[in-house]
Amino acid sequence: TPIAVLISGRGSNLQCLIDACAADDYPARIVAVISNRPDAYGLERAREAGISAIAIDHKAYASRESFEAALDSALREAGAEFVCLAGFMRILTEGFVNQWDGRMINIHPSLLPKFKGVDTHKRAIEAGESEHGCTVHWVTPGMDEGPVIAQARVPVLPGDTPETLAARVLVEEHRLYPEALKLALEKA
Ligand code: GRF
Repeated sequence: TPIAVLISGRGSNLQCLIDACAADDYPARIVAVISNRPDAYGLERAREAGISAIAIDHKAYASRESFEAALDSALREAGAEFVCLAGFMRILTEGFVNQWDGRMINIHPSLLPKFKGVDTHKRAIEAGESEHGCTVHWVTPGMDEGPVIAQARVPVLPGDTPETLAARVLVEEHRLYPEALKLALEKA
């Protein structure tokens, strides 16, 4: 399946998908990486892997809808049939989400439905959680609310900071995302 990966930054989850797609028996290939931030390091990772790297700077568009129209054209031009959000930090409108209904997934650094939104690691520590983790889910109009495809758990350890906890979760994100994408493609 031709997929696009949408990013805003570092792109370490993008990298794990690039690596997974390199295997002959993996059911996806990446046809485009799109970032709303032109300086995202993930775009470098895409170029390095010989994948089309596209910047669509949201600041250049007057409205969310016009930004999304550009995004949608780029996705269709690239021939993407499925979309993976990987650290993509723009909220998508219901209109856009519905166009990709059943064909768009996201990775979120918490055990959803706990800790939707940002600063998940800090909030998990402050809430005194003994367990934390990450979730890959279908994207629906409500932010971080779609049906769960797969989750991975890590312990919260004494003395954890948001940074140490994030690092522990990230290891699991990189394992989980390729596995969950494969599951999602079987259901799409
Ligand atoms: C990841 O923790 C992802 O779950 C979150 O943002 C981070 C992105 O990291 N939503 P990267 O850009 O994939 O390295």
